[in-house]
Amino acid sequence: MSKQITVVDGPHSAILGIGSYRPSRVVDNAEMCTMIDSSDEWIRQRTGIIERRWATDDETLMVMALGAARKALDHAGLQGSDLDAVIVSTVSHLTQFPAIAPQIATELGATDAAAYDILAACAGFCYGLAQADGLIRNGSATRVLVIGAEKLSEQLDKTDRTTAFLFGDGAGAAVVGPSDEPGIGPVVWGSDGAAKDVIRLTRHWDEPGDEPPYIHMDGQPVFRWASTTVAKKTLEMLARAGLTVDDLDVFIPHQANDRIIDAMIRTLKMPEHVTVARDISHMGNTSAASIPLAIEAMFERGEVKSGQLALIVGFGAGLVYAGQIIRLP
Ligand code: UT7
Repeated sequence: MSKQITVVDGPHSAILGIGSYRPSRVVDNAEMCTMIDSSDEWIRQRTGIIERRWATDDETLMVMALGAARKALDHAGLQGSDLDAVIVSTVSHLTQFPAIAPQIATELGATDAAAYDILAACAGFCYGLAQADGLIRNGSATRVLVIGAEKLSEQLDKTDRTTAFLFGDGAGAAVVGPSDEPGIGPVVWGSDGAAKDVIRLTRHWDEPGDEPPYIHMDGQPVFRWASTTVAKKTLEMLARAGLTVDDLDVFIPHQANDRIIDAMIRTLKMPEHVTVARDISHMGNTSAASIPLAIEAMFERGEVKSGQLALIVGFGAGLVYAGQIIRLP
């Protein structure tokens, strides 16, 4: 037999630092209703959204991603040069290739870091975290930056009452590194490509049209899938980590709709002591950025503490979902 390949097991991994970028422009429901036929009452009751942020022209995807990344590095007490991989999850990098991750790595001084984009929509942060954990545990990387960044306002038809009020912009980032104890649980993830049309762009970029392609969503089937199929998967996320819902301190689902969060709480029979993220009220749905944005908001408001156990779960276009247990940095 030929010689065997050497594989060196790495350590456990954990999130060492978290950071976010919230665009400066706040768009409240009153302003929203100058663009679509709706009402503040309807939007609040059906989604929980009070306001969202839409980035200005200067707040590019790169500016927002770098803002979040630098805060996460500061929080971890590290510099860009300490990173050996940068993973960016986004559906908003409209150039498609080259990926934005290498440019971000270079700006951060992460010279020669592995860098790539992933496209897993609103599940993207959890997908990226699973990859970072795997890279560290199999010895392929030591410190990995995971960014979720979105400028969805560029892909919205601002007159479409089925989508315009839902989506917002922002970025969140996590630095993942070695740890004595497991800080990231096994991922539970999956997909359903048969439902590809329920959240999609209105047309291909090279198909003729006066307007750019916009986000289209059939809200009800997505709502039902998230509230039933994905909600049940959250139980597996706990079981795979050897935990029960009583062990949880924090629940941070993708911020898509307050009523989906409520359905998940019912499925999990969530105990009263668990703190639940409700960042959707001020940020809307920011896709891959929503979970890290919500984590940082909870830290800023003093709702969570370092070392607590949190269940995170993302779901969206593909359809795709992913989630795991994390220990907060
Ligand atoms: O991040 C990716 C994952 N995305 C999600 O998880 C989103 C999942 N879907 C949703 O959150 C919800 O389906 C929406 C918030 C998008 C829509 O809420 P809904 O309760 O499913 O509304 P609907 O589409 O069933 O419409 C109910 C009614 C309709 O009127 P009638 O037929 O009952 O008279 C709509 O015409 O609400 C009307 N409606 C609106 N009214 C005021 C629809 N959009 C609006 C609006 N303002 N913006």
